[in-house]
Amino acid sequence: MPGLILQYSIRSLDHQLLFPQKALLTKETLDALLYSHGTQSYQTSPLLLYGSVKQDCLDFLGTIPFAIIFSHEKEIKDLLSLLETIQYPIPILQSLDYFKGHDFYTYAHVLMVFLLSTILAKDLLSDYQERILLPATGPTHDMGKICVPLSILKKKTPLTKMERRFLEHHTAAGYVVLSYYNKDPEHLACKVALDHHERGDKSGYPRGILLEDPMVEIIAACDVYDALIMPRPYRSGAYDNRTALEEITEMAKQNKIGWDVVKALIARNRKSNPHYKEIAISAEKRGTPPSYNAYGMIAEETDSKDRAE
Ligand SMILES: [Fe+2]
Ligand SMILES: [Fe+2]
Repeated sequence: MPGLILQYSIRSLDHQLLFPQKALLTKETLDALLYSHGTQSYQTSPLLLYGSVKQDCLDFLGTIPFAIIFSHEKEIKDLLSLLETIQYPIPILQSLDYFKGHDFYTYAHVLMVFLLSTILAKDLLSDYQERILLPATGPTHDMGKICVPLSILKKKTPLTKMERRFLEHHTAAGYVVLSYYNKDPEHLACKVALDHHERGDKSGYPRGILLEDPMVEIIAACDVYDALIMPRPYRSGAYDNRTALEEITEMAKQNKIGWDVVKALIARNRKSNPHYKEIAISAEKRGTPPSYNAYGMIAEETDSKDRAE
């Protein structure tokens, strides 16, 4: 990977400093960090058998629109059995406790992106089992948010430019933290954490590179979709499902994500459950976004100097 200057420091869940602010993140500096911390791997446990994760997933799946997307009982049962076999290093699972206790939006979000991306991968990728069995399809995509202050994650009003940069730091932070816990920067979960805000027109962050990997693209689409249909602190309400799907369609029109993933998402939202290749998408936009939405707005800086950590 090309060098990335880290805007803010990166710490592990137990507050060990992994990279200081302004450090240069490269393959070499990351390898040096992993080498200096030893290569002994962490104990693992299955995600779905950790704490209340499985029950929480089942509760979320019972709500609309997830109840429609995940309406085929046998298919879901098989999928959950498959997911039960995925092992995660314990500190990664502990990050879910952190989010559940401090930022429930992020907790629900990472689990739902995990489940949504898994089912879309099943529809879209011939090697989906291989891809989802690498613990890579969601509950870790935003793990870097452990390095972002909760006051920013939960802010109801527009973020300042500095706060926006801090929020965007979760991509590089997730890449480092997951490399650290998985002991492997090449792990697909690390790539997903770093690249899930990149776009097909290079308008994303942190590097502005082309979104190419189909699994990362699926997670990027599920990430936006889930963020729209669930309540958020910075909006007056959630998007209704139709409006959210129209927003995702708009992203495909702008070449930010591919059409296949949009079609697969829309197909899963139809009760008749057509094959995604048979989906025709209406060009008409009829939805109404929530009346108040601070997402993407930039607030005036009260202090132009960036806050030091
Ligand atoms: Fe993210
Ligand atoms: Fe996310």
